[in-house]
Amino acid sequence: MDNETRIQRYRRLIEISRDLASTLDLDPLLYRIIEAARDIANAQASSILLYDDASKQLFFQVATNMGPLMRGLSVPLEGSIAGWVVANRQPLRIGDVNKDNRYFKNVAQTLSFETQSLIGVPLITKEKVVGVLEVLNKNNGEFTSDDEDLLSVLSAQAAIAIENTRLFQQSDLIAEFVHELRNPLASVNTATYLLLRPEISSEQGRQIIQNIQSETMRLTTLASSFLDLARLESGRVQFQKSAFPLDGLLQDCKSIMQARADESHIALSVQVAPEADIIEADHDKMKQVVLNLISNAIKYNRPGGSVSILAWMAGKDLLISFSDSGFGIPEDEISHLFQKFYRVRGTEHKVMGTGLGLSICKGIIQGHGGRIEVTSKLGEGTTFTIHLPRK
Ligand SMILES: Nc1ncnc2c1ncn2[C@@H]1O[C@H](COP(=O)(O)OP(=O)(O)OP(=O)(O)O)[C@@H](O)[C@H]1O
Ligand SMILES: [Mg+2]
Repeated sequence: MDNETRIQRYRRLIEISRDLASTLDLDPLLYRIIEAARDIANAQASSILLYDDASKQLFFQVATNMGPLMRGLSVPLEGSIAGWVVANRQPLRIGDVNKDNRYFKNVAQTLSFETQSLIGVPLITKEKVVGVLEVLNKNNGEFTSDDEDLLSVLSAQAAIAIENTRLFQQSDLIAEFVHELRNPLASVNTATYLLLRPEISSEQGRQIIQNIQSETMRLTTLASSFLDLARLESGRVQFQKSAFPLDGLLQDCKSIMQARADESHIALSVQVAPEADIIEADHDKMKQVVLNLISNAIKYNRPGGSVSILAWMAGKDLLISFSDSGFGIPEDEISHLFQKFYRVRGTEHKVMGTGLGLSICKGIIQGHGGRIEVTSKLGEGTTFTIHLPRK
């Protein structure tokens, strides 16, 4: 490598280090890292696999050449190059992966990308492995030890930046969570105080106890929703994808929600176009999304209203819509719906909820490479539409 290019690469490395330290959102940060890695190593593509210490698994998070279906694909620790890098905490440079028995073929199939040569470097902070950075196929010639050294410098910076975004997001989320705990805790506190007063009748006592019960229930859902969201935001969630019939899932969710719909005399209907009846997704997480959207469509509806769920194909996208005949959402509040803890003005007193459901839905759908859209008319109703890319 001539001196000119070497200097250029160092310059890029310094530039990116500065840049990384100032990015506090995980996804944009990871994309910057892989783009920098690809440029610095003059490679065709680059990717990051994150390591989940709890399940001892690696999974794809971002790649410069990754289709939406790739995200979350897990790679075994045994019998994969990335797994070797994690276990040995050392970089690995390979001229031809097809001759290497550590190469995990499943990736090549899902990626529809032919990998030839590769460098994998561990992302390590304070003895902890957060993941693996890989560059694939040198644009001309072979990867060199220089490439490996530069990538190791980049990966050290990148690992710290990844940990920082996680800590930052966690502290942000925890602050909001603690704030949300205050109201239910204050009600329980007042309620117990009232219960101890001698002049309370047994009927009043019963009502106060019911109040305590509903507030503690709220705290329980708040805690489990909070954990779901924290996991999604830290990028540590794994999506276990499989192909299954969409109609089955929707019918299943409809039955689960039927009793609640009946209470308010709300009619539920499901219609799936035949060509839309196969979905490739994480079944349980998808179910969580569908349940929250149906639950919202019932909660924020009027008695005697309706909820209709439709699924169809539009080009290469699978669309699933949830339309209700409910309150509708004011236009200036629609853009806030997917913010954590956000609830439309006035609803917090009428209907129980944490304001986390839609944030979780959005996280899950984005994890599948899709998006959720909302249209609403005040007094007429609201439609949430999920767009999922299909292979
Ligand atoms: N179908 C809908 N019609 C009208 N408003 C809605 C609808 N869905 C959601 N909203 C509004 O958006 C807010 C956020 O919804 P989200 O699902 O995130 O939280 P939640 O329903 O309040 O709580 P949780 O889902 O934890 O029970 C709701 O509080 C409600 O004000
Ligand atoms: Mg909800």
